[in-house]
Amino acid sequence: MRCAVAPGRVNLIGDHTDYQDGWCLPMAIDRSVAVSFVPRTDGRVRARSDALSGPVDLPADGSTDIADLAPVWGRTVAAALSVLAEAGRNPVGADLHVRSTVPVGSGLSSSAAFGVAVTMALAEIGGLDLDGPTLARTAQSVEHRASGVPCGIMDQLASVCGRAGHALLLDCRTLGVTPIPVPPEAVFVVVHSGEARRLVDSAYAARRAACEETAAGLGLAALRDAEAHQVVDVPFARHVVSENARTLAFAEALRIGDLDACGALMLESHGSLRDDFGVSTTTLDELVVALMGAGARGARFTGAGFGGCAVALFDPVRAPAAAERFGGFVVRAADGARITTEEES
Ligand code: GLA
Repeated sequence: MRCAVAPGRVNLIGDHTDYQDGWCLPMAIDRSVAVSFVPRTDGRVRARSDALSGPVDLPADGSTDIADLAPVWGRTVAAALSVLAEAGRNPVGADLHVRSTVPVGSGLSSSAAFGVAVTMALAEIGGLDLDGPTLARTAQSVEHRASGVPCGIMDQLASVCGRAGHALLLDCRTLGVTPIPVPPEAVFVVVHSGEARRLVDSAYAARRAACEETAAGLGLAALRDAEAHQVVDVPFARHVVSENARTLAFAEALRIGDLDACGALMLESHGSLRDDFGVSTTTLDELVVALMGAGARGARFTGAGFGGCAVALFDPVRAPAAAERFGGFVVRAADGARITTEEES
């Protein structure tokens, strides 16, 4: 039996920039979704999960109507089959078994990790060879089709391209990935706000549309190309432009080990997402303040916002106690998605 393993991610800085061709700086984490797979000869794909309802039983040719499919997680399997069929996958059946250690609904990309793992497993079984960027793009299409949310490429690209011990500077225009070593003095702690993410899907789509409209109004392909002076009066766009600059500055600060600068940039990022982009919550704001009070060099929420997790930068001495005090955990930068044997996963 073989297994497709895809990690979740934590975004250290650069949120709501990816769908404007911008920069972000996530790292793949040591929490992952594993999809074990064996071929079937009857043209059906049967998926079961230890934690979720099911099983799901679908034709392998991708012809399932996704919209009303239950259980909801089965839509990702159906969407992967339909996107891969369009890419030329042979309609080979499979038994899939899904396990996950990525907390669900917390901004750590459990859903993108699931999409990447399922896409990898089904592509492999259907004899389709996908390189890294193509796998990330394909899994992004799967997410669009399964959830209807017009997400960017960050989560899938981070899950595919992760490297142990490294954060990833992502250029979401070219899909270029620059791994940056995380110095041993930098330890990232993830803490859940206790607030389930709400309104994420509709607010996300609305923000994205507003950014596209502003870019088009300026005659630009994306806000990646805007200068600060062009967007001073447009808070959404101002966030995207300033966040891109902070992300590049953070990458350089991390590379030279200037962790105080990294921390300050994380705090500025949170403030911009709160004040200019309007996607934080009071609970997340208070959590960031509390993490700073516990000795973090910097903290911010991570992901789309509206609840979920904060990420804080601690030194190695303070990190374990802070993680325990806030009921969070230390995350380590991990390798990206891969196919392995069941025993190794
Ligand atoms: C979600 C999306 C990503 C990205 C973030 C915000 O995680 O899936 O593509 O846009 O929100 O940075």
